[in-house]
Amino acid sequence: MNVLITGGGSGIGAATAKRLADRHVVVIADRNKAAADAVAAEIVSAGGKAIAVEVDVSSAVSVKAMMEAIPGVARPLGGLFNNAGINIRQPIDEITELGWDAVVNTHVKGVLLVSQAVLPEMLAAKRGVVVNTASDYSIIGAPGLGAYCAAKAAVYSLTKVMAMEFTSRGIRVNAVGPGPIDTPMLRAGRAPAEAEARLEMHKAKIPMKRMGRPEEVAAVVDFLLSERASYIAGQIIHPNGGLVMW
Ligand SMILES: NC(=O)c1ccc[n+]([C@@H]2O[C@H](COP(=O)([O-])OP(=O)(O)OC[C@H]3O[C@@H](n4cnc5c(N)ncnc54)[C@H](O)[C@@H]3O)[C@@H](O)[C@H]2O)c1
Repeated sequence: MNVLITGGGSGIGAATAKRLADRHVVVIADRNKAAADAVAAEIVSAGGKAIAVEVDVSSAVSVKAMMEAIPGVARPLGGLFNNAGINIRQPIDEITELGWDAVVNTHVKGVLLVSQAVLPEMLAAKRGVVVNTASDYSIIGAPGLGAYCAAKAAVYSLTKVMAMEFTSRGIRVNAVGPGPIDTPMLRAGRAPAEAEARLEMHKAKIPMKRMGRPEEVAAVVDFLLSERASYIAGQIIHPNGGLVMW
């Protein structure tokens, strides 16, 4: 199967690309083209098939250009991992319009635009699998993360609507909803010592008393994309060490 992974240049997306690449052709799409190139090169040097493309998932123009840049060898796309994401930390009374738009447009509009671009290929083939990246924060709140929590709640909602609209047409849509995973996103915007203190705070609350690894989310995405998940649609699965039990 040919699988498009947005945000594949780092963290969870990169781990998923590497895990899938022994069985699938992976298209690594990222706004950071150099990062996508590096992940693709690592996969190719290990004997896998990977292609890197540039995209800003929040821009329809950019998504169209990305689709045009994906070569025939990776078509039709049978799998889509909508994973690109960003975060800002601003309490509700301080969220700027710019920050809100960046977060909500990346997560929510990004899932919509990329899905709209890929679904026609899946519908024509009458088969396909989509995994959206939700979060524990799709179902619980977190102070200072109003835009992010609202965006992730919307991604979970979109997942259910997409599953309702496309399951009967051969396309399974689900979401992975990670808890705290040690990726660059969690450390971004913090000094190293502050980031470590933050991770320790997370760990204390997690029943497994440790952060998740990107590879542990990749394993869930691999499962949801596979035939082993053939009767699962419209669900959110949380690799979170037991932090949120839903
Ligand atoms: N790390 C966590 O604890 C955690 C928990 C729950 C959910 N998530 C979600 O998992 C996904 C991946 O996050 P991560 O932790 O691997 O972060 P990361 O920062 O390591 O990777 C995110 C990638 O997305 C790319 N990206 C950002 N905006 C983009 C855009 N507009 N267009 C294209 N690419 C873009 C970045 O360049 C980066 O390569 C995100 O949706 C995030 O919200 C992460």
